[in-house]
Amino acid sequence: KKHVLLFCDPGIDDAVAIYYAHYHPDIELVGIVAEYGNTTTENAYRNTLYLQEVLGMHIPVYRGAKGPMTGREAKPHHDIHGPYGLGTINTKENVDVEVPENFFDIIDLIRAYSGRLTIVTTGRLTSLATLCLYYHDLMCEKVKEIVCMAGAFFVPGNVTPLAEANVFEDPVAAKLVIDHAPMLTIIPLNVTDQLLVPMSMIRELEEEYGYEFLTALIQYYYDFYEAATIDQLLGTPLHDVVAFSALMNPEFFTFVTYRVYVEAQGTETAGVTFPDVRVLEDLPEAPTHLVAIQANEAAFLADFKRVMEGKR
Ligand code: BDR
Ligand code: CA
Repeated sequence: KKHVLLFCDPGIDDAVAIYYAHYHPDIELVGIVAEYGNTTTENAYRNTLYLQEVLGMHIPVYRGAKGPMTGREAKPHHDIHGPYGLGTINTKENVDVEVPENFFDIIDLIRAYSGRLTIVTTGRLTSLATLCLYYHDLMCEKVKEIVCMAGAFFVPGNVTPLAEANVFEDPVAAKLVIDHAPMLTIIPLNVTDQLLVPMSMIRELEEEYGYEFLTALIQYYYDFYEAATIDQLLGTPLHDVVAFSALMNPEFFTFVTYRVYVEAQGTETAGVTFPDVRVLEDLPEAPTHLVAIQANEAAFLADFKRVMEGKR
């Protein structure tokens, strides 16, 4: 079993990723950090509590960073994820916000799962970068692996011509994590944009297992993508689910080991991620990472369906 601490910003695809993780027989979510990104930190936190309730989960939820290390104001993507982050749902009406866990108590959880903890990030990297700054040795020693949905390599970004949202919004944090964390598995937009989940599959799941809430969420996401595309869409990307799928099924993906750079300050290029592909004997000393560059769509879709059919 993989014991996973998730850093996320629910957010529609984050919510679907939580469903996937919850129903996967070999994943145990042990904690969730909810932070700004697709919506505000308050909404992301409340949305996570709501998802916990819907799924009958009982794990610690931490309220993560309020905004990026750059000092810029966080800019929620309510156009894509809905006014409160979960389509048309306003979880303010459904969830009483308890006093949140103290964020830095997360260190106790990391210690408790020493050597067998997987971190998955599907949001901005601010909270994880903070832990890497304050607890660098502990993070390197105790965390087994880190998988990040982040970046765009050799393809257009989704928030600027070159940058992907999770990196763009806090490129300083992304650079910190990428420069200092030992080998990350990076699942970039190149791959997540290629894996389109058809609405017919979602409706089949709904008919069979009653995923009404999930179907409404995914339809909301699909409608955004459809309106934003000129071509006929075959389905919707669910970026954050791909991070979990890659964790559990690395054989579906092609990975290349790269030294990765993040542009933290460019006026037009902030948030750009690119690999060092030079063949040099003396490449600058820095961690290398596994970057996914391709995926098997049929295998991804079949696995997604199988996991969602495992509803308990
Ligand atoms: C990523 O950005 C967020 O908006 C999505 O939830 C996903 O994590 C895609 O660029
Ligand atoms: Ca996300």
